[in-house]
Amino acid sequence: MGSEQKFGGDWTIEKLDIFSSYLEAYLKALKNFKFKKVYIDAFAGTGNITSRDGAQMIAGSARIALSSQLQFDKYYFIEADTDKAAALQKMVDTEFTFLKHKVTILAGDANNELSKICRSIDWRYNRALLFLDPYATQVAWITLENVAKTEAIDVWYLFPFQALQRLLRKDGQLDSTWVECIDRLLGDHEWQTEFYKEDPQLNLFGTTSIVKDINTEGLKEYIFQRLQKVFPAVAPKPRVFRNTKQSPIFLFCFAVASKNEAAQRLALRIANHILKEKL
Ligand SMILES: C[S@@+](CC[C@H](N)C(=O)[O-])C[C@H]1O[C@@H](n2cnc3c(N)ncnc32)[C@H](O)[C@@H]1O
Repeated sequence: MGSEQKFGGDWTIEKLDIFSSYLEAYLKALKNFKFKKVYIDAFAGTGNITSRDGAQMIAGSARIALSSQLQFDKYYFIEADTDKAAALQKMVDTEFTFLKHKVTILAGDANNELSKICRSIDWRYNRALLFLDPYATQVAWITLENVAKTEAIDVWYLFPFQALQRLLRKDGQLDSTWVECIDRLLGDHEWQTEFYKEDPQLNLFGTTSIVKDINTEGLKEYIFQRLQKVFPAVAPKPRVFRNTKQSPIFLFCFAVASKNEAAQRLALRIANHILKEKL
């Protein structure tokens, strides 16, 4: 089936486990607040995920959100692949008929659709939980800025750590399309001076060249600090998902857009507890 979604490894289960724990706690914590609660899944998939060998099927984020005991007032699902969006619509129509009136499925790009959603909702009366679960570098930094401006969204972002590391060549010979991609992912050009320095060794022609000067820990810290520049509160220890060689492939980051300190404390307390507990 063309619209079938395959999962990457055990970390996919871990990711969804962390996310669903937060989702349940979020709905419980906001139960008695007067705000409308909105769920936004910007890389929604089909609702189901199949293991690579086809032997195992697990619930994807969309199914998890729709299945929660406490409900959101509104569900937005964004999916760029029209076949997957259609499969998701079918799942809603057949298995979640009782929620159909609350669901909007948008077949399009996450950045564009999310910006429209951020602009269209009156955030004085709404709060949202957002899941950014891209395969790679699809989330533009400006999208995070738009999300933060709402001052009303809690976001889980699967940051594409390995994809970024691969783009950052050791010898500093960066293709212009790669530079564009990194600028879009990190928001501006600052990373060039942060990550590269002049090589103290002279080359054959007696001139200096540029070399990469950031390690894995430094890059992790940089991403955390950048998120902190945009969001008023960010979980200090994102979950690091690793491949079989133990290299980090994604950072699962949590950030809060609310400027209300009590709301930040509550959200961070729940997220930090889940991140610590689910090892
Ligand atoms: C990692 S999967 C998401 C899995 C999903 N969260 C789940 O748990 O089932 C990423 C999804 O994003 C979709 N996608 C890729 N680029 C996109 C974009 N620019 N905007 C929206 N969706 C996109 C892919 O088709 C894929 O279904």
